[in-house]
Amino acid sequence: MTPSPRRIVSIFAWLVGTVLAIVAGASSATSLVEFTESERYFIESHGPWPPPVVVDPGNRFSGDPRAVELGERLFSDVRLAAVEGMACEFCHRRDRAFTDGLVVGVGRQVLARNTPTLFNLAYNRWFGWDGAADSLWAQSIRPIIAQAEMNADAGIVRRLFETDPIYRTALSGMLEIPVGELGDDAVLALAGKLLAAFQETLVTPRTPFDEFRDALLSADMARAARYPLAAQRGLKLFTGEGQCSLCHFGPSFTNGEFANIGISHMIPNDGVDRGRLAGMRKLKESVFNLTGPFNDDVTRANAVGTRQLRFRHTAFGEFRVPGLRGVAATAPYMHNGSLATLEEVVRHYSELDMDRLHVHGGQILRPLHLSDEQIGDLVAFLESLGATPPGNTSQSGQVIEKQQYDGHAEQ
Ligand code: HEC
Ligand code: HEC
Repeated sequence: MTPSPRRIVSIFAWLVGTVLAIVAGASSATSLVEFTESERYFIESHGPWPPPVVVDPGNRFSGDPRAVELGERLFSDVRLAAVEGMACEFCHRRDRAFTDGLVVGVGRQVLARNTPTLFNLAYNRWFGWDGAADSLWAQSIRPIIAQAEMNADAGIVRRLFETDPIYRTALSGMLEIPVGELGDDAVLALAGKLLAAFQETLVTPRTPFDEFRDALLSADMARAARYPLAAQRGLKLFTGEGQCSLCHFGPSFTNGEFANIGISHMIPNDGVDRGRLAGMRKLKESVFNLTGPFNDDVTRANAVGTRQLRFRHTAFGEFRVPGLRGVAATAPYMHNGSLATLEEVVRHYSELDMDRLHVHGGQILRPLHLSDEQIGDLVAFLESLGATPPGNTSQSGQVIEKQQYDGHAEQ
């Protein structure tokens, strides 16, 4: 029996389909790097993005649009400082992804550390390079009263809140007692909480990496293949042989904890930066830490980490693992701004001086001795994490409580 014309057409269609599939398979094979199980695990950990919006139970104004607006106003208000022309924005510039582009911050004096970006802070557990604060609102108080920075005090903040009609009117609708009757520390905590409510809204946008990750997970190989090969190879190094993902873990590319990667802790003309060791002490002594009276979480569940903190000698010279989203826009790098470009950063890891590492970092880190091509690949990958557009603020997704967000892995 001869096949019917319909059957011939369908065989022909099947043949064409098969050939097309083979061609597509071959082309995606040439434009997709292969990842091991473990590399895929880490790639998956670096999303989804954007993450859910989190509400900080320690800050009663977290997520309150009135507070976000007042916080944004305070952020650029020079009257919050006792230094001519100074405001948060002076160092955390919107047009520079909320950094200043300098090696170290400059206030009334040259500071010891590099000014970090303020993006994606809602997902952090510790704040500052040494984790001297355990909440975003407490961290936001420090520069207001630091003599080397804004050099203000509670009196200046209170006067601003009482005399400016915008703050006065808005706050009278938000507080049970007038600002004038709050104690000094309560006034500072209020300012910190308003500033934090604003900063929590700063989230970096989706990046080419996120497109790739999602495509890979949904096995959409054609879409995945749009991610440049150099970035794919860099991602393979990052999640594989380079072991970068062990510390730069999770959606924000940080496990939220501290490590020593052999960056000098000498401060020019000013001794030694003890890093996390000093940060723990400052945190324990601060009246604004989460075990204190200004934590708005009545359950105190958010204070467990601070209460359980133990001094470790290995904390000397450790600094917080920075998140890496938008990292191409925040040069120079490291707590002391000592590395000018991403290439210098990758070369640092490639040629690590093991003598400068303490045991802790040494357990993971070893010199990678990368070729120039591999260095280029890792840089291409880091660049694919986005160069955050100026002052971009975006939020989406459902709102959850901060404790429920498990983007960080315990070390
Ligand atoms: C003179 C420059 C300067 C000014 C002004 C300044 N900052 Fe900073 N900021 C820095 C530096 C430097 C650091 C790093 C400090 C450290 O780790 O010890 C920092 C750290 C931070 C952090 C921690 C970020 C992180 O990744 O943990 C936050 C939040 C912050 N600043 C918010 C503010 C707010 C809010 C204001 C205004 C009230 C402000 N800053 C004013 C220079 C400045
Ligand atoms: C042992 C944990 C650890 C590992 C592994 C690790 N990092 Fe880091 N990374 C850190 C810490 C901690 C810092 C900040 C150090 C400092 O400022 O002194 C940092 C800083 C950085 C920075 C600078 C970010 C900024 O904003 O200043 C980049 C980029 C970076 N790492 C990329 C990588 C890459 C690429 C790898 C893999 C080759 C890697 N890291 C492996 C812990 C780690």
